[in-house]
Amino acid sequence: MTSAEDGDGDGDERSGSGGAGDHCGEEAAKTWWDAWADHFQTVGDIDVGVARGPGAPHDDDLGLLGDVAGEDVVELGCGGAQFGLALADRGADYTGVDLSSAQLAHARANAAGVGASDATFIEASVTDLPLPTDAFDLAVSAFAFQWVEDLTGCFREAHRVLRPGGRLVFSVDHPCYKLFDPESGDVARSYFGDSPRREYSEPFDAEMVVYSRPVSETVAHLDDAGFTVEAIREPGYADPDEYESAFGGFDPELMADVPPTVVYAARACPEL
Ligand SMILES: C[S@@+](CC[C@H](N)C(=O)[O-])C[C@H]1O[C@@H](n2cnc3c(N)ncnc32)[C@H](O)[C@@H]1O
Repeated sequence: MTSAEDGDGDGDERSGSGGAGDHCGEEAAKTWWDAWADHFQTVGDIDVGVARGPGAPHDDDLGLLGDVAGEDVVELGCGGAQFGLALADRGADYTGVDLSSAQLAHARANAAGVGASDATFIEASVTDLPLPTDAFDLAVSAFAFQWVEDLTGCFREAHRVLRPGGRLVFSVDHPCYKLFDPESGDVARSYFGDSPRREYSEPFDAEMVVYSRPVSETVAHLDDAGFTVEAIREPGYADPDEYESAFGGFDPELMADVPPTVVYAARACPEL
């Protein structure tokens, strides 16, 4: 399995610009995910369930979600909606948003597969949500915001669509994990620079453009958008054997040393 096949949708490790051109932001994300979706969903073979990303225990809400029954829940960057459909199964009124029509085709098929006929799917960017203000109790997201260039814009939209006191719970790849070369274990890039990472996939003629943000920067973006951070979790295990298998390009030995996933829970402060 190449790193292009890994479960977070990361691309082929051959770096630099390729035939896809120097796209960035939403255009790059949409091009990548429309090209990549079928492969990602087939190789990932993702079960419906609460999943945050590599290293995080499956179907464990880490104490962050609470009882979602009767809540209005929006999932930002829902992909195949396996996470959101698990919340729908727990009684949430679920809306999934993604900018990739190819990913949303999988989401709709997955919803039909589990009989979630009330699930709503919207093709849009998380930075410009065609959703009403004060409409949701909870916004969730897993491994999507690292593709979003305008993170403050994304968080402002999440804040707008959440009711006052509503929660935003999301995971991204941990900014420390990708500093290391999994083969040598050497530090391959700086925590403070090198963002976005660009990785070109020749088979898909698309370039992955991913923003790796220091934890403090993500917290600052949340603060700017009117959120109070309530929890940060770095799920993982010190014993490589605790990982069931290498998660795509994620290496159990490295994951046992460096957390691959970071999860943030924030609450929308009421507008002053
Ligand atoms: C690694 S996938 C994760 C999908 C899903 N959350 C999961 O855990 O399987 C990242 C998703 O984010 C979506 N995405 C990236 N940028 C986006 C944006 N600006 N607006 C909406 N969705 C976006 C992609 O289309 C893709 O479906």
